[in-house]
Amino acid sequence: MSYVIDDRQASLFQVNREVFTSREIFEKERELVFGPAWLYAGHESELPRRNDFRTRDVGGRSVIFNRDRHGDVRVLLNTCRHRGASLCRHPAGNAKIFTCFYHGWAYRNSGELVNVPAAEDYARSPVEVYQGLPGPRVESYRGFYFVNFSADPPDLHAWLGTSAYLLDLAADQSEDGIEILPGTHDYTLNANWKLLVENSIDGYHAKSVHHTYFEMMRELGQTPPMLGDAGTNGVPPAGLGTEFGHGHATLMYPGNGLPLATETVTRDLGVLRARAAERFGESYAAAVFDLARNTIFFPNFVLIDLNFGMILRTIMPLGPDRTQVSSWQIAPRGLGQESLRYRIDNALTFWGPAGLATPDDVEALEQAQRGFSARREMPWSDISKGMGKPRPAANDELQMRAWWRQWNAVVTGEERPREVDEFVPFDRPARETQGA
Ligand code: FES
Ligand SMILES: [Fe+2]
Repeated sequence: MSYVIDDRQASLFQVNREVFTSREIFEKERELVFGPAWLYAGHESELPRRNDFRTRDVGGRSVIFNRDRHGDVRVLLNTCRHRGASLCRHPAGNAKIFTCFYHGWAYRNSGELVNVPAAEDYARSPVEVYQGLPGPRVESYRGFYFVNFSADPPDLHAWLGTSAYLLDLAADQSEDGIEILPGTHDYTLNANWKLLVENSIDGYHAKSVHHTYFEMMRELGQTPPMLGDAGTNGVPPAGLGTEFGHGHATLMYPGNGLPLATETVTRDLGVLRARAAERFGESYAAAVFDLARNTIFFPNFVLIDLNFGMILRTIMPLGPDRTQVSSWQIAPRGLGQESLRYRIDNALTFWGPAGLATPDDVEALEQAQRGFSARREMPWSDISKGMGKPRPAANDELQMRAWWRQWNAVVTGEERPREVDEFVPFDRPARETQGA
């Protein structure tokens, strides 16, 4: 059975609805999609001090994302060598040692097993037998940390390829860098995780699903985002979708100012933009501040940067029809109180689980999942919009097709050629350190 039909002659792209419902595919994804990929684990700003830690699930594994006593950022598997209990049951904190609460085995925050109660009862001490926790590979780019659970992963930078520039566009919004604001939105939905991947880079649904938001904006005399009329840096008013290989893809469009912003908020952003223009030139500053974009880093890391706020999102399957979402707000460092409040308000009222956008999206995805009960009679979903255009627009579906081709390649081994050349709307500025 094929999962994806990719007919270039007919410009037809379809996905078999079985992939949203099958337990067998869900199990395969765990191994083939989440096993070899670089998975977003966290941002450096979440661990400002030595010994800071945060526990979370990454790629279906419970992990401790921490900065050890030497200052190195690590991702430790949050499970005891002895019989598997979680080593750390707190969401966040500061600790040099993690002591398993079950029988008391103790580990340094760099992973070494250092103490086993009643070790003399063992013929050979578990400290020697086990040494410590196995360390999955951790690499970073511009403060974003990724983890890879496979034995021989590719270099992170090679994996990101040109898509790394979307992280640059976020990281360069202030010369002091960017930081995660306190608090996480964690929520679940009763739909397959790939539906939220599609939705996160879907420029087609906004006017229909989010019409309440658009109407509200109009009533308040605001121009809603996504309805701009001027292009910038070669990106036309309708925006465009582009792909970067490895399933990473983005849609971008000229941003449309800051809805409901006060003068101070507008001025603060203007100051950041002027500083970026000084540092990097006007073309790059325009790309950083005048374009909005939604990006997927394969398989499950989303960066949404809409000028009036930026969010990061990870999407984890819990089952074929159940998904866990974590979402963080990230902002330029050093913003004034009013700008910060404006962004936090947007994160709550627009992207939050009870905001103006997210519940509409969740409803659409759960309705789709319900519709898949008729998958035998109607087996295929369509993702053909804009296929065959030399430059698909932001509300076309190229970015989804790029992601699906990679998904299909890792699950079935069937490689397909890319659809368009990648598009980068500026010259990349020279940078002393591209890495961490
Ligand atoms: S399970 Fe951790 S000490 Fe026994
Ligand atoms: Fe949406």
